[in-house]
Amino acid sequence: MKVVVVGSNGQLGSDAVRAFVDNGDDVFPLTHADIEIANAESVTSKLRELQPALVVNTAAMHHVENCELQPDRAFAVNALGARNLALAARDIGAVLIHVSTDYVFDGDKTSPYEEGDPPRPLSVYGNSKLAGEYFVRSSLDKHFVLRTSAIYGKSPCRAKGGLNFIQLMLKLAKERGEVRVVDSEFVTPTSTSDLVRQIVALSRCESYGLYHATAEGACSWLEFAREIFALTNTKVNLKVAGPNEFPAKVPRPKYSVLENRGLKRMGLNTFRPWQEGLRDYLGVSQSHEAATTK
Ligand SMILES: NC(=O)c1ccc[n+]([C@@H]2O[C@H](COP(=O)([O-])OP(=O)(O)OC[C@H]3O[C@@H](n4cnc5c(N)ncnc54)[C@H](OP(=O)(O)O)[C@@H]3O)[C@@H](O)[C@H]2O)c1
Repeated sequence: MKVVVVGSNGQLGSDAVRAFVDNGDDVFPLTHADIEIANAESVTSKLRELQPALVVNTAAMHHVENCELQPDRAFAVNALGARNLALAARDIGAVLIHVSTDYVFDGDKTSPYEEGDPPRPLSVYGNSKLAGEYFVRSSLDKHFVLRTSAIYGKSPCRAKGGLNFIQLMLKLAKERGEVRVVDSEFVTPTSTSDLVRQIVALSRCESYGLYHATAEGACSWLEFAREIFALTNTKVNLKVAGPNEFPAKVPRPKYSVLENRGLKRMGLNTFRPWQEGLRDYLGVSQSHEAATTK
């Protein structure tokens, strides 16, 4: 299959390129230097030139604070960019797999969000991604919109820069005897390699639609840190951060756990518990006993 990956040098895009290449597909990786998704002409001309059967969009403006400061740009990339890709895919008869986010929800629920739950984003980022979802779903039949959560991979996240949460925890533990982490925000850490396995599986079927696509289970950031330290045998004094210790400049959902209801209903869910993805990422064998698995 001829596959275009947009955002190909990003955290998720890099793994998507690798996964489709390993799958034997004909892959065309596009970085920001190759395509500007906010520009309809750039998108149309690139897709017409390459004529892929599948477009995988991992590109986004997803630095939450920057989105709040530049709402026009956030909507240009996350909403109109998604629309540009959907229209160009429709023009050439391609399927679009578009990645969205758990931040379309407000976090007021206390049980996992399903696809049918009403979204209510708290931020410009969440609103712009939700608008992007609507554009894709309303302009192109052959789409998969995948909402995911707290992704981490071997390649750095370009929007956030620096270290991912796992690397940051291990660095802080090495530098200090004590690490403080919030226990009031719940997510599902999802490894990019698990997410791209699901993306490749979906690319082989025609069950188009909106799907939640995260690893199984849930944890607070504190529980995530505890598991990282347990799996790496890191000796550190892990403490709960106080409520105002790391004040967020932009509101975030306190609980953004997603249930892969749609994928399960269709018999398409390939995800495993988040702890297993973490073990693989850390290169720890399955037999290693984790201290906490909630
Ligand atoms: N990170 C998370 O925890 C998380 C959670 C839920 C959902 N998501 C979603 O997952 C997706 C992938 O995230 P990621 O962490 O892999 O992101 P990333 O590492 O920041 O990669 C994003 C890629 O998109 C490119 N890009 C940005 N703006 C573009 C534009 N206007 N036109 C073309 N390319 C552009 C970037 O290039 P430059 O860097 O050169 O601009 C980069 O290659 C995004 O849709 C994000 O909303 C992420």
